Amino acid sequence: MAKDVIIACDFAGRQQTLDFLDRFEGVRKPFVKIGMELFYAEGPDIVREIRRRGHPIFLDLKLHDIPNTVRKAMKVLSGLDVDMCNVHAAGTVDMMRAALEGLCEGRKPGPPKISDLRGGLDGTRPLLIAVTQLTSTSEERMQKELLIGAGINDTIVKYAQNAREAGLDGVVCSPLEAGMIKQACGADFLTVTPGIRFADASSDDQVRITTPARARKIGSDYIVVGRPVTAAPDPVAAYRRCLNEFLNQ
Ligand code: C5P
Repeated sequence: MAKDVIIACDFAGRQQTLDFLDRFEGVRKPFVKIGMELFYAEGPDIVREIRRRGHPIFLDLKLHDIPNTVRKAMKVLSGLDVDMCNVHAAGTVDMMRAALEGLCEGRKPGPPKISDLRGGLDGTRPLLIAVTQLTSTSEERMQKELLIGAGINDTIVKYAQNAREAGLDGVVCSPLEAGMIKQACGADFLTVTPGIRFADASSDDQVRITTPARARKIGSDYIVVGRPVTAAPDPVAAYRRCLNEFLNQ
Protein backbone atom coordinates (compact mmCIF):
# COMPACT_ATOMS: atom_id res chain seq x y z
CA MET A 1 0.00 0.00 0.00
CA ALA A 2 1.22 3.51 -0.86
CA LYS A 3 2.56 5.55 2.04
CA ASP A 4 3.35 9.23 1.83
CA VAL A 5 3.76 12.53 3.65
CA ILE A 6 1.06 15.11 2.88
CA ILE A 7 1.93 18.77 3.53
CA ALA A 8 -1.00 20.81 4.91
CA CYS A 9 -0.78 24.04 2.92
CA ASP A 10 -2.64 26.15 5.46
CA PHE A 11 -1.88 29.47 3.79
CA ALA A 12 -4.23 32.41 3.37
CA GLY A 13 -3.74 32.93 -0.34
CA ARG A 14 -2.42 31.88 -3.73
CA GLN A 15 0.91 33.69 -3.84
CA GLN A 16 2.06 32.53 -0.43
CA THR A 17 1.14 28.95 -1.34
CA LEU A 18 2.90 29.00 -4.70
CA ASP A 19 6.01 30.67 -3.23
CA PHE A 20 6.12 27.89 -0.66
CA LEU A 21 5.75 25.14 -3.28
CA ASP A 22 8.44 26.78 -5.46
CA ARG A 23 10.96 25.88 -2.78
CA PHE A 24 10.47 22.18 -3.61
CA GLU A 25 11.35 22.58 -7.31
CA GLY A 26 13.88 19.97 -8.30
CA VAL A 27 13.44 18.05 -5.03
CA ARG A 28 10.15 16.11 -5.21
CA LYS A 29 6.56 17.20 -5.83
CA PRO A 30 5.03 16.86 -2.37
CA PHE A 31 1.50 15.55 -1.85
CA VAL A 32 -0.40 18.70 -0.85
CA LYS A 33 -3.45 19.18 1.36
CA ILE A 34 -5.70 22.11 0.43
CA GLY A 35 -8.07 23.00 3.26
CA MET A 36 -11.06 25.26 3.71
CA GLU A 37 -9.12 28.50 4.24
CA LEU A 38 -7.23 28.37 0.96
CA PHE A 39 -10.12 26.90 -1.03
CA TYR A 40 -12.63 29.48 0.20
CA ALA A 41 -10.15 32.29 -0.47
CA GLU A 42 -9.04 31.23 -3.94
CA GLY A 43 -11.70 28.84 -5.25
CA PRO A 44 -11.18 25.88 -7.59
CA ASP A 45 -8.51 27.72 -9.59
CA ILE A 46 -5.92 27.16 -6.86
CA VAL A 47 -6.64 23.42 -7.06
CA ARG A 48 -6.20 23.47 -10.84
CA GLU A 49 -2.98 25.46 -10.58
CA ILE A 50 -1.37 23.17 -8.00
CA ARG A 51 -2.53 20.23 -10.07
CA ARG A 52 -0.94 21.71 -13.20
CA ARG A 53 2.33 21.94 -11.29
CA GLY A 54 2.18 18.18 -10.81
CA HIS A 55 1.33 17.77 -7.11
CA PRO A 56 -1.00 15.02 -5.87
CA ILE A 57 -3.81 16.77 -3.96
CA PHE A 58 -5.91 15.97 -0.89
CA LEU A 59 -8.87 18.39 -0.94
CA ASP A 60 -9.86 18.59 2.72
CA LEU A 61 -13.34 20.17 2.68
CA LYS A 62 -15.08 17.70 5.05
CA LEU A 63 -18.51 17.68 3.43
CA HIS A 64 -21.55 17.10 5.67
CA ASP A 65 -25.08 17.71 4.32
CA ILE A 66 -28.08 15.77 3.04
CA PRO A 67 -27.10 12.92 0.70
CA ASN A 68 -28.42 14.57 -2.48
CA THR A 69 -26.47 17.78 -1.88
CA VAL A 70 -23.28 15.91 -1.02
CA ARG A 71 -23.60 13.73 -4.12
CA LYS A 72 -23.87 16.75 -6.40
CA ALA A 73 -21.06 18.62 -4.65
CA MET A 74 -18.77 15.59 -4.88
CA LYS A 75 -19.49 15.31 -8.59
CA VAL A 76 -18.12 18.83 -9.00
CA LEU A 77 -15.07 18.15 -6.82
CA SER A 78 -14.33 14.94 -8.73
CA GLY A 79 -14.12 17.01 -11.91
CA LEU A 80 -11.22 18.91 -10.29
CA ASP A 81 -9.22 15.70 -10.62
CA VAL A 82 -7.91 15.61 -7.05
CA ASP A 83 -6.44 12.43 -5.56
CA MET A 84 -8.22 12.40 -2.21
CA CYS A 85 -11.22 14.17 -0.64
CA ASN A 86 -13.36 13.71 2.45
CA VAL A 87 -16.72 13.86 4.26
CA HIS A 88 -17.85 13.65 7.88
CA ALA A 89 -18.85 10.12 8.85
CA ALA A 90 -21.49 11.72 11.09
CA GLY A 91 -23.49 12.36 7.91
CA THR A 92 -24.52 8.66 7.98
CA VAL A 93 -23.84 5.67 5.73
CA ASP A 94 -26.39 6.95 3.19
CA MET A 95 -24.60 10.28 2.90
CA MET A 96 -21.22 8.57 2.47
CA ARG A 97 -22.67 6.29 -0.24
CA ALA A 98 -24.07 9.35 -2.00
CA ALA A 99 -20.66 11.04 -1.81
CA LEU A 100 -19.06 8.04 -3.46
CA GLU A 101 -21.69 8.00 -6.22
CA GLY A 102 -21.03 11.68 -6.89
CA LEU A 103 -17.29 11.07 -7.14
CA CYS A 104 -17.82 8.25 -9.63
CA GLU A 105 -20.24 10.32 -11.71
CA GLY A 106 -17.83 13.25 -11.94
CA ARG A 107 -14.57 11.40 -12.56
CA LYS A 108 -12.42 12.03 -15.55
CA PRO A 109 -12.05 9.12 -17.94
CA GLY A 110 -8.66 7.57 -18.50
CA PRO A 111 -5.83 6.47 -16.21
CA PRO A 112 -4.62 8.63 -13.31
CA LYS A 113 -2.24 11.29 -14.59
CA ILE A 114 0.21 11.70 -11.74
CA SER A 115 -0.04 8.99 -9.17
CA ASP A 116 -1.78 5.69 -8.68
CA LEU A 117 -3.13 6.96 -5.38
CA ARG A 118 -6.66 6.58 -6.62
CA GLY A 119 -9.81 4.79 -5.59
CA GLY A 120 -12.34 2.62 -7.36
CA LEU A 121 -11.66 -0.65 -9.09
CA ASP A 122 -10.31 1.13 -12.16
CA GLY A 123 -8.38 3.71 -10.16
CA THR A 124 -10.04 6.66 -11.86
CA ARG A 125 -11.85 8.28 -8.96
CA PRO A 126 -10.33 10.19 -6.06
CA LEU A 127 -9.87 8.30 -2.81
CA LEU A 128 -12.71 9.10 -0.42
CA ILE A 129 -12.08 9.13 3.31
CA ALA A 130 -14.24 10.07 6.31
CA VAL A 131 -13.59 12.16 9.39
CA THR A 132 -14.63 10.06 12.40
CA GLN A 133 -14.52 12.37 15.42
CA LEU A 134 -12.38 15.49 15.07
CA THR A 135 -9.20 15.25 17.11
CA SER A 136 -10.23 18.52 18.75
CA THR A 137 -13.32 16.82 20.25
CA SER A 138 -12.75 15.39 23.71
CA GLU A 139 -14.70 12.42 25.03
CA GLU A 140 -16.28 14.66 27.65
CA ARG A 141 -17.61 17.19 25.12
CA MET A 142 -18.77 14.44 22.78
CA GLN A 143 -20.82 12.92 25.55
CA LYS A 144 -22.08 16.15 27.17
CA GLU A 145 -22.72 18.30 24.08
CA LEU A 146 -23.40 15.77 21.35
CA LEU A 147 -25.16 13.31 23.69
CA ILE A 148 -23.15 10.40 22.30
CA GLY A 149 -23.16 7.96 25.20
CA ALA A 150 -20.46 5.55 23.99
CA GLY A 151 -16.76 6.08 24.67
CA ILE A 152 -14.77 8.03 22.11
CA ASN A 153 -12.76 5.03 20.89
CA ASP A 154 -15.91 2.93 20.36
CA THR A 155 -17.49 5.85 18.50
CA ILE A 156 -14.45 6.28 16.27
CA VAL A 157 -14.34 2.56 15.44
CA LYS A 158 -18.09 2.48 14.72
CA TYR A 159 -17.84 5.54 12.42
CA ALA A 160 -14.90 3.92 10.64
CA GLN A 161 -16.91 0.71 10.18
CA ASN A 162 -19.79 2.78 8.78
CA ALA A 163 -17.38 4.37 6.31
CA ARG A 164 -16.15 0.94 5.28
CA GLU A 165 -19.75 -0.28 4.88
CA ALA A 166 -20.48 2.70 2.62
CA GLY A 167 -17.54 1.68 0.42
CA LEU A 168 -15.13 4.46 1.41
CA ASP A 169 -11.38 3.95 1.24
CA GLY A 170 -10.48 4.98 4.78
CA VAL A 171 -10.64 7.62 7.50
CA VAL A 172 -8.89 10.68 8.86
CA CYS A 173 -7.94 10.01 12.47
CA SER A 174 -5.33 10.61 15.13
CA PRO A 175 -2.18 8.53 14.52
CA LEU A 176 -2.80 7.02 17.95
CA GLU A 177 -6.09 5.55 16.68
CA ALA A 178 -4.69 4.08 13.45
CA GLY A 179 -3.96 0.65 14.96
CA MET A 180 -7.42 0.04 16.35
CA ILE A 181 -9.03 1.18 13.10
CA LYS A 182 -6.90 -1.21 11.07
CA GLN A 183 -7.86 -3.98 13.46
CA ALA A 184 -11.58 -3.22 13.11
CA CYS A 185 -11.71 -2.41 9.39
CA GLY A 186 -8.80 -4.33 7.84
CA ALA A 187 -5.22 -3.55 6.88
CA ASP A 188 -6.24 -2.17 3.48
CA PHE A 189 -8.51 0.49 5.01
CA LEU A 190 -6.57 3.76 4.78
CA THR A 191 -5.65 5.83 7.82
CA VAL A 192 -4.72 9.43 7.10
CA THR A 193 -3.35 11.07 10.22
CA PRO A 194 -2.66 14.68 11.23
CA GLY A 195 -1.22 15.38 14.68
CA ILE A 196 2.41 14.75 13.71
CA ARG A 197 5.36 16.36 15.49
CA PHE A 198 9.10 15.74 15.57
CA ALA A 199 10.31 14.36 18.89
CA ASP A 200 12.24 17.56 19.68
CA ALA A 201 9.52 20.07 18.68
CA SER A 202 6.58 21.96 20.20
CA SER A 203 3.11 20.40 19.94
CA ASP A 204 1.42 23.79 19.15
CA ASP A 205 -2.34 23.37 19.71
CA GLN A 206 -2.37 19.65 18.84
CA VAL A 207 -3.05 17.23 21.68
CA ARG A 208 -3.02 13.63 20.48
CA ILE A 209 0.27 13.69 18.62
CA THR A 210 3.14 11.42 17.73
CA THR A 211 6.29 11.38 15.58
CA PRO A 212 6.44 10.32 11.91
CA ALA A 213 8.32 7.13 12.81
CA ARG A 214 5.85 6.09 15.49
CA ALA A 215 2.88 6.94 13.24
CA ARG A 216 4.25 4.47 10.72
CA LYS A 217 4.67 1.79 13.39
CA ILE A 218 1.10 2.24 14.62
CA GLY A 219 -0.32 1.95 11.11
CA SER A 220 -0.72 5.36 9.42
CA ASP A 221 -0.74 5.20 5.64
CA TYR A 222 -0.49 8.95 5.07
CA ILE A 223 0.69 11.48 7.61
CA VAL A 224 -0.56 15.06 7.29
CA VAL A 225 2.07 17.54 8.42
CA GLY A 226 1.48 21.29 8.61
CA ARG A 227 3.47 23.64 10.81
CA PRO A 228 6.46 21.33 11.42
CA VAL A 229 7.17 21.84 7.68
CA THR A 230 5.46 25.12 6.72
CA ALA A 231 6.83 27.08 9.70
CA ALA A 232 10.29 25.47 9.68
CA PRO A 233 13.31 27.69 8.92
CA ASP A 234 14.11 25.25 6.10
CA PRO A 235 10.82 23.65 4.96
CA VAL A 236 12.51 21.41 2.40
CA ALA A 237 14.86 19.97 5.05
CA ALA A 238 11.91 19.45 7.41
CA TYR A 239 9.96 17.70 4.65
CA ARG A 240 12.93 15.45 3.91
CA ARG A 241 13.18 14.62 7.60
CA CYS A 242 9.50 13.62 7.62
CA LEU A 243 10.02 11.40 4.58
CA ASN A 244 13.09 9.81 6.14
CA GLU A 245 11.38 9.11 9.45
CA PHE A 246 8.04 8.01 7.99
CA LEU A 247 9.18 6.04 4.96
CA ASN A 248 12.39 4.85 6.54
CA GLN A 249 14.33 6.15 3.56
O1 C5P B 1 0.09 22.36 11.58
P1 C5P B 1 -0.43 20.97 11.86
O2 C5P B 1 0.57 19.87 11.56
O3 C5P B 1 -1.04 20.85 13.23
O4 C5P B 1 -1.61 20.80 10.79
C1 C5P B 1 -2.47 19.69 10.75
C2 C5P B 1 -3.44 19.83 9.63
O5 C5P B 1 -4.36 18.75 9.70
C3 C5P B 1 -4.29 21.09 9.66
O6 C5P B 1 -4.57 21.44 8.30
C4 C5P B 1 -5.57 20.66 10.35
O7 C5P B 1 -6.68 21.41 9.94
C5 C5P B 1 -5.69 19.23 9.86
N1 C5P B 1 -6.47 18.35 10.73
C6 C5P B 1 -6.15 18.11 12.06
N2 C5P B 1 -6.93 17.26 12.84
C7 C5P B 1 -7.99 16.66 12.29
C8 C5P B 1 -8.31 16.87 10.94
C9 C5P B 1 -7.53 17.73 10.19
O8 C5P B 1 -5.18 18.64 12.58
N3 C5P B 1 -8.71 15.82 13.00
